[in-house]
Amino acid sequence: MPNRRPDIGFLPTPPEVVDVILDLAGLNQQDLVYDLGCGDGRILIAAAQRFGVRGVGIDIDHDRVQEATHYAQQAGVSHLLTFQQQDLYESQFASATVVILYLLPHLNLKLRPRIFDQLKPGTRIISHDFDMGDWPPEQIVQIPTQEGEVATLYYWTLADAIAEIKA
Ligand SMILES: C[S@@+](CC[C@H](N)C(=O)[O-])C[C@H]1O[C@@H](n2cnc3c(N)ncnc32)[C@H](O)[C@@H]1O
Repeated sequence: MPNRRPDIGFLPTPPEVVDVILDLAGLNQQDLVYDLGCGDGRILIAAAQRFGVRGVGIDIDHDRVQEATHYAQQAGVSHLLTFQQQDLYESQFASATVVILYLLPHLNLKLRPRIFDQLKPGTRIISHDFDMGDWPPEQIVQIPTQEGEVATLYYWTLADAIAEIKA
């Protein structure tokens, strides 16, 4: 059980941005979606409700994991989702076909080597608001939020080339 503080506090992705994340991911029922730093589980719960996909949420904060588990039960999708209290930097997510992130720039960069090490070519990665340094995204999508701000989504597909570089 991790006993260190979260690297970033809980800041939920607004529902209108969740919708665009799920559309951008192009989900199908074979997908396994990981949310690394899943907060209250809202992205995975919406994915399971809309697309019937399976998901794994990892959060270092016990209260968030409890909350996410509870909300998934309430939403009737707990058979599709698992929430684990874990440090995402020590987690195994190699079975993911889609990875969702809402962290910070330096946290994305710290995670990048693990993404290249663990994930299979073809895995889609979507990061809310922050890029991955010199790894250029395939798509950038901007969404006006109901709070009058603009959310930015960065989308990558893990290429064979990167899988070869890491080998
Ligand atoms: C900005 S919130 C995003 C929540 C959710 N993904 C969303 O978009 O609504 C970041 C989450 O990451 C979690 N977190 C921070 N550091 C972490 C770490 N090292 N391992 C796992 N979770 C972490 C926090 O507890 C928080 O719930």
